[in-house]
Amino acid sequence: MDVRFLGHAAFALSDGDTTVLIDPFLTGNPGAAASADEVDATTILLTHGHSDHLGDAVPIAKRTGAPVVAIVELANEIAEEGVQVFDPNLGGTVKFDWGWVKLVPAWHTSTTPGGTVSTPAGLLISFAGKIVYHLGDTALFSDLQLVARRGDPIDVALMCIGGHYTMDRWDAVTAADLVSARTVIPCHYDTFPPIETDAEAFKSDVESSTSSEVVILAPGETHTE
Ligand code: NI
Ligand code: MN
Repeated sequence: MDVRFLGHAAFALSDGDTTVLIDPFLTGNPGAAASADEVDATTILLTHGHSDHLGDAVPIAKRTGAPVVAIVELANEIAEEGVQVFDPNLGGTVKFDWGWVKLVPAWHTSTTPGGTVSTPAGLLISFAGKIVYHLGDTALFSDLQLVARRGDPIDVALMCIGGHYTMDRWDAVTAADLVSARTVIPCHYDTFPPIETDAEAFKSDVESSTSSEVVILAPGETHTE
């Protein structure tokens, strides 16, 4: 499985011809590694409706035909655009030929640019025989550890560290300890001035206090599991 960082909180998981695209905020993202009209998507997954996550999901879904998975209120808004959606709520799992995605809690807020209010989520994903946990936008909270304990261990955690809108890099060290992923890839930092942080310091703090390895990806870079 290839994990390609597209900038901010956007990732593409790919295995052969299958691509799971997460939070594709590309247009208006100063660190975007691709444009909305060039990314592939078999399925699009959204953590929540803020513009830096919903991003280009609708135009990419229309171009590629990929369905969008989002919490029910957000999915309903997207469906009005003529896009195929799956609309689980927290705790729900949606299965695909490529694996499954489960919506898990995240402590944050969520209103779309169109005004739809919903509950934000994290995404627990089974893809290509690996478990990937995109924490979404969240503060530190103790139930992060429940997600890691529910079944197979987490192979890759995609973790916000930028502070201001989410947990900062110090709280994220504790989050990394709770999640206990084999690999942690930081995101949601350095895109804008309020979320600038020191990812190398995060890496060294996590690796000195947990058994996780931190892989820092520049936008456009790929980690292979
Ligand atoms: Ni947000
Ligand atoms: Mn965000």
